[in-house]
Amino acid sequence: MTKRVAILISGGGSNMVSLAESMTGDHPARPVLVLANDPAAGGLAKAAAMGIPTAAVDHKPFGKDRAAFEDALQAKLEEAQPDILCLAGFMRILTPGFIAKWEGRMLNIHPSLLPKYKGLHTHARALEAGDTEHGCSVHEVTAELDDGPILGQARVPVLPGDTADMLAARVLPMEHKLYPAVLRNFAAGAREPIFIS
Ligand code: GAR
Repeated sequence: MTKRVAILISGGGSNMVSLAESMTGDHPARPVLVLANDPAAGGLAKAAAMGIPTAAVDHKPFGKDRAAFEDALQAKLEEAQPDILCLAGFMRILTPGFIAKWEGRMLNIHPSLLPKYKGLHTHARALEAGDTEHGCSVHEVTAELDDGPILGQARVPVLPGDTADMLAARVLPMEHKLYPAVLRNFAAGAREPIFIS
């Protein structure tokens, strides 16, 4: 049966667009909702233009009450009835309580070769460390931040003179290849990791 996918975003949503564009033809999944924590997220308009239902739950009025914010997210998700959640540039930390509801059904893309550089500023940290290789990872979301079984990784070289922005610009197109490939596999029930370079 076709899997229903909700994509959670915070910003421009370029990964969301790659995922949504991939879910056509014989793909085992379809996008049913793009959900943002920022009503101004640029990705919302892109999703609407693609004919995908959208919703936003602004995290700001909830202040430090993450559980209340997540209850509002959960309500939107329950309306859309997704089988799979894809975090795609979703920049809010989720509580273990929310994660437990979706564990085994929630994926995230992170711009580093995990387990290296969990958290923020991954490109700058790879440069500071003098790495010659960098990339991105898709993993299942578990209670620990940027942890959980790795379902795919894509590698890029770090070149002399690279800045964090240059490195980010080299990694992003690989994200756009990796995430759709992993989602296709995952939606079909496969769990073997995909490695591309
Ligand atoms: C992507 O590079 C993604 O890997 C990163 O945010 C960017 C979102 O871009 N995610 C994280 O850093 C998660 N911790 P997009 O909105 O254009 O897809």
